[in-house]
Amino acid sequence: MGENIDLKLMDEEGRRIDGRKFDELRPIKIEANVLKRADGSAYLEWGGNKILAAVYGPREAHPRHLQDPTKARVQCRYNMAAFSVMDRKRPGPDRRSVEISKILSEALEYVIFTEQFPRTTIDIFIEILQAEAGTRCSGLTAASVALADAGIPMRDLIVSCAFGKIAGKVVLDLRKEEDNFGEADVPLAIVPRTEEIVLLQMDGHLTTNEFQEGLSMAMKACKNIYGLQREALRKRYSTVIDKNEEKEKKEEKKEKEEVVQ
Ligand code: CDP
Repeated sequence: MGENIDLKLMDEEGRRIDGRKFDELRPIKIEANVLKRADGSAYLEWGGNKILAAVYGPREAHPRHLQDPTKARVQCRYNMAAFSVMDRKRPGPDRRSVEISKILSEALEYVIFTEQFPRTTIDIFIEILQAEAGTRCSGLTAASVALADAGIPMRDLIVSCAFGKIAGKVVLDLRKEEDNFGEADVPLAIVPRTEEIVLLQMDGHLTTNEFQEGLSMAMKACKNIYGLQREALRKRYSTVIDKNEEKEKKEEKKEKEEVVQ
């Protein structure tokens, strides 16, 4: 953050290195139910980030001393693939991924009705296949779609997005170079329906006014991303209905044919 290099993060017309305006998101694509053997899953592309989220559970917690008789344990594991970044990432957990896993678990636990599933565990795996900054936000956004896909009762989805500051200007959704050489990065996650904040971190410095400006920009963006999450889930369930209808029609046809014979 704020390293001194000769990289122009914004041109005279206020365009960023990838041509975005200050309040523009990178392109986002979400697909629900992409893994057969998980209870719920999602695949998300957000700019150069490519992320898979898989959910298992609620299932009996093992070892048993980890069971909570009052609620389910929500365990999220954020993992970066060795090939996801420019310099090979050493496989396995490190300080950064342990921290991210913890804050994402806490954010997700807030929206899940954990008290409905005592003694169980809900495991959420977030696999970063390709990283280009903002992976905790993208991972969280994907994970909440995967949880909904698994049919786990939740208050609402969680949406996450970052804002920050580059070239003296508050901007939305930093990409890699902006994250590395900008002045601030503030990942944030909200429950869209109530606008409660469930994750907020800050790297760098902002004035109160800049913070407020970024916050309202990110809130607005989160509402748009919420639309994409819901659309992905709607598509997933309408496909199931279509397939069921097809199956029913085929069976009806077969029955008719049998009657004719
Ligand atoms: O990804 P996020 O912005 O949530 O977290 P970060 O710690 O601010 O990391 C920013 C970016 O740095 C990541 O998205 C990766 O692109 C990159 N990174 C890396 O190249 N090697 C690592 N070991 C960790 C992060």
